[in-house]
Amino acid sequence: MNKILFWEMSDINARFLKILSGLCAAVIVLSSLSACAPKPESVFKAEADQWFSDYEGAQAALKSEKIYEYNEKGSVAVSKPKVSAVDADTAISEYYDTLKNEFRLRAQTEQDKLLVSYKSYKASDDITGVEILYSQMLGGVQSSAVRTFNFDKNGLLQIDDVLQRLTMINAKEILLANEQYGTAIDKEKLNESRDYQLLFTESGISVIYAGGTVAPESAGELRADVPYVRVRYALPESIKQNVPEDNSVRTVDITKKLVALTFDDGPNRKYTNEILDTLEAYDSVATFFEVGNVIPNAPEAMKRAAELGCEIGSHSYTHKNLQTASVERIKEEIEKTDAKFEEVLGCKPTMLRPPYGAVGSKLRENCDEYLIGWSVDTEDWKYRDKDKVVASVKNEGDLDGDVILMHSLYESTADAVKELVPWLIENGYQLVTVSELMKYRYETELETGKYYSGSWFDSNK
Ligand code: NI
Repeated sequence: MNKILFWEMSDINARFLKILSGLCAAVIVLSSLSACAPKPESVFKAEADQWFSDYEGAQAALKSEKIYEYNEKGSVAVSKPKVSAVDADTAISEYYDTLKNEFRLRAQTEQDKLLVSYKSYKASDDITGVEILYSQMLGGVQSSAVRTFNFDKNGLLQIDDVLQRLTMINAKEILLANEQYGTAIDKEKLNESRDYQLLFTESGISVIYAGGTVAPESAGELRADVPYVRVRYALPESIKQNVPEDNSVRTVDITKKLVALTFDDGPNRKYTNEILDTLEAYDSVATFFEVGNVIPNAPEAMKRAAELGCEIGSHSYTHKNLQTASVERIKEEIEKTDAKFEEVLGCKPTMLRPPYGAVGSKLRENCDEYLIGWSVDTEDWKYRDKDKVVASVKNEGDLDGDVILMHSLYESTADAVKELVPWLIENGYQLVTVSELMKYRYETELETGKYYSGSWFDSNK
C-alpha cells in the first residue's frame, strides 16, 4: 500500500517538478530581460499596504499618516491616525514611538518587521475611540497586541469611576457567559485584574484583556462588548442621548446604597402576596427562599414574585438541617425542590439558603447551587411583632450591602415590610435581589461550595 502510494506520489511530483522548473526558467529569463526584479523596499511596502488595507474600512473619519522604513536590520511601517485633540495626539504618538524604539533596539535581520495600524470608532459627535494594533516579527517570534485611546475634542477622555465599575461588572458577566472561552477564565484573576483596555465604539464599550491575563495564553485575547444600553445612566451625555432606554431591564444604580430583603419558608398565599403588593407599589424587588414541599400551597404567589423581577431560591424540600443530613438526603432535598421549581417556574433555582443557616462539608461538596445566608436577622419569627421587626432594621445602622432575613409566614412581617420599603427608599437605598447585590455591590462572581453568610458579609462590606 505504502509502496504504491509512494510511486504515485513520486510520479506526480516528477511532473510538477518539470512544470515548475519550466516556469522558473521563464521567470528568470523575464526578470533578467526586463532587469526590474522588485526591490525589497517595494516588496515590504506592498506587504505593509496589504496589511493596512484590513483596517482602512474601520477608520471613522480620521486621516492617516503612513510611514514606511525599510531596513536590512528590520523594517517598520506605521499607519497613524491624525488626531486634533492635542494631549490625545501626544499620547498616541508616544505609544507609536515606544513601539518603534523597542523594535529598533532588538531587530537584527531582514525578516524582523513591525507593522502598526489602527481602527477608530465614532461613539458620538465628539467622542472617538481608537484601537491601535501591531503585528511584530522579531527573531522568528510573531507577536501582536492592542492598545486603546478614547478622546473627545478636549483631549483624552476621563472615564468616570461609576461608568468604569458598571462597565466592568457587565464585562465580567459577558466574558463568563462566552461559550468559547468562558470556562477557561480564572474567576479570581478576573475579579482582581486591572490589566485591561477600554474602547468606546459605535455600539458600546469594549473591554479587552490581552492573552494570558485572565485566561490561559491559548485562549487568546478576550473581548467583551458591553452595549451602551447596559450602562446607560452612567454614560457621558453626548452618547447617552443616542441610547434609547430599555425598560425591560431593571436598572441597578451603583451610586445608591443597595440592600436585599429576603423572605424564607414560603410561599404563603396570603403574606407572600401582601409582601409582593408592597414591593410592586414601590417598584422594588426581593428574594424568596421557598421550601419545596410548601410550594404546592401557593405556586401562584411564587410565580408572581418571579414575574415582578424577584429572585426565587431554594430552602430545601422539608426544611431539613442539611449540615447533619446524609449525602443521600441532601441530594434528595435538592432534587425534589428542583422538580417543584421546574413545575412552577420552568427552571431550577441557582441559590440555596440552608435551613437554620446550617452548612457542613457534605452540603458544600454536594450542592451545585450557591449557598446564601444573611447579614441581618430581624428575628421576625420569634417576636411576631411588626414594631420589633421595623426597629431591628432601622437600628442596624448602615445597611448598604446587607442581606436582611425575614419570613413569608407572618402578618407582622408583611406589615413591617409596608413600613420598611418606603423608609429604605427615602433613605437612599435601592432594593435589589441577592444576585444583584453580589454582582453590583460586591462585584463578586459567586462560587459553589462557598457559604455567603454573616462572616463573609462582615469581611467584604
Ligand atoms: Ni427557614
